[in-house]
Formats: sequence, C-alpha cells, structure tokens
Amino acid sequence: MPQNPDYPELEEARSHWRWQPPAGCLAGKVILVTGAGDGIGSSASRTFASYGADVVLLGRTRSKLEAVFDWIVANTSTDPVIVPCDLAHLAQPNADALANSIMDHYQRLDGLLHNASALGPRLPIAHYPVHTWNEVFTVNVTSALLLTQSVQPLLERGDHPSVIFTSSSVGRAGRAYWGAYAASKFAVEGLMETFADETEAAGFRVNSLNPGGTRTPMRRAAYPSEDPQSVPPPENHMDLYVYLLSEYSRGVTGQRLDARTWAGPPNPA
Ligand SMILES: NC(=O)c1ccc[n+]([C@@H]2O[C@H](COP(=O)([O-])OP(=O)(O)OC[C@H]3O[C@@H](n4cnc5c(N)ncnc54)[C@H](OP(=O)(O)O)[C@@H]3O)[C@@H](O)[C@H]2O)c1
Repeated sequence: MPQNPDYPELEEARSHWRWQPPAGCLAGKVILVTGAGDGIGSSASRTFASYGADVVLLGRTRSKLEAVFDWIVANTSTDPVIVPCDLAHLAQPNADALANSIMDHYQRLDGLLHNASALGPRLPIAHYPVHTWNEVFTVNVTSALLLTQSVQPLLERGDHPSVIFTSSSVGRAGRAYWGAYAASKFAVEGLMETFADETEAAGFRVNSLNPGGTRTPMRRAAYPSEDPQSVPPPENHMDLYVYLLSEYSRGVTGQRLDARTWAGPPNPA
C-alpha cells in the first residue's frame, strides 16, 4: 500500500479504479506538476507522492502549494519542492532558471504533468475579447511549450520520461461559448501529437488526458449551479495518471486518453 495514512479521499476512490497500481510504483521518480496547489493538480501531487515520487509543485498561489507540500512531508518520505510561478508571465529565462533549479536539486526529471489552465469567460466567438483570448492561450498553450522546451534536457536524463498534457472534452469537439478555452485545448492536442512524434524514438511517452467533469474550483466556476456531488472527485481518476507516469505504460505515446472511458492497462499489469 502507498503511504497515505491521512488521505481518505484516495482510499475511497480506489474502489472506482480500473487498475490498482503496485505500492511504490513511482518510487525514485521526479515529477513536475503545474497547477499543483488546487483541484486535480493538488490531488495528483499528493497521489504521486503517496506512490513514492518526488514532486515539484508548481503553481500560482504560494499558500496552496505550501499546504500540499506540508501534507506530502507529513504523510510520505518523499522530497517535494515548491516552485511559485504564474504561467501567465512565464518567459524563456525564468523557465530556464526553473529547469536549472530542478537540475541542481534532482539532476533529472522523469515526468511532467501539464495541468494548470485558465478557463476564460464563456462568450460567443463573435464577442470574445482578443486580449483575453491571448491570455488563455498564454497559460494553456504557450507556457506548456516554454516549460517543455526548458525541461526537455532534464527529461532526456530520466528513464522513459512521461509527459501528460491535460485536455478537455471541448478540446476534442468544439462547443458553443467555450471560446479560447476550447480552442486552446485543441492546440494542446496538436502540441502533444507533434511532440510525441518527435520524441518517440528517444523513448519518451507523450499523451493527452481528458479528466472529464471533475469536482474542482474550475468546474464550480464553469457550472455554478451544478451540485458538486454530482461529479466525481479528482481522486477517482488517479489510476490513469499514475499509470501514465509509471513503468507500466512504457511504449504508450501519442494517445488521447479519457479518464471516464479508460478501461485500465491493455494487459493487466
Ligand atoms: N475540473 C474539470 O471538470 C475539468 C474537465 C476537463 C478538463 N480539466 C482540465 O484539468 C486541469 C485541471 O483542472 P482543475 O479543474 O483542477 O482546475 P482548477 O481547479 O482551476 O485548478 C487549477 C490549478 O492551476 C493553477 N493555475 C491556474 N492558472 C495558473 C497560472 N497562470 N500559473 C500557475 N498556476 C495556475 C491554479 O492556481 P490557483 O489555485 O492559484 O488558482 C490551480 O491551483 C485543467 O487543465 C483543466 O482544463 C478539468
């Protein structure tokens, strides 16, 4: 069992999982998670640490990152670090500085979860403000490109590194009023497929993951009148996240996965 004495949500979620990851299956791995302070990123960070990974917690709000950091230190024997960073203002020099600090601390990176996203307003294309469009694309697409470029040398030092780009249902089929968010998720899919094709020969795994409707602050912002209990918590999807970052998904690359329809590893591990 992973070390998770104080994570009842994860314990509860396991009954919904389609794959039971072996204890410690992420031990020795270094994984960078963006948007690690809340929602799916917070859950993913605590889950990865529970399975043994050292997690680099990148996010916008320091106090939220500190809460995740404190939980990991109190409940696991892993070595997390906090990287406060607003991806809306990420430029190549600070992305490179971030990569250098990971290099100093861990000497490599085995996994990268691009998770942080901006939702933007729900407006028709006819009235979508271009400056807001650009802000959403900066966070959802351009920062993912910059971060990927800066840490690629670190990933090359890892063992069959795994990169996950977070998509959405509206990044696979357009939907009215989802504006820049939807278009940016289509771009994320294109970035994933291009990078996957470029790095397959080097042993990289690069995939996109659509969590589907999940009980988080973003979901509440998108559907304010919805009963939060009607959508699953992030922990319910964590089997797929752990699978993609573990040894068990070697050879899986360039795929668009959906947490709601994933049936578990093709050959049960
Ligand atoms: N929840 C769903 O139903 C759903 C469905 C489909 C896809 N997704 C995707 O899943 C991913 C996670 O979604 P979520 O629902 O967990 O979102 P969330 O509840 O809004 O949490 C996102 C996290 O990302 C951080 N973040 C946002 N903008 C940032 C920036 N500019 N720089 C650094 N960090 C930033 C947030 O920081 P703060 O805490 O400081 O705000 C927050 O910690 C997103 O890519 C989203 O598009 C979610």
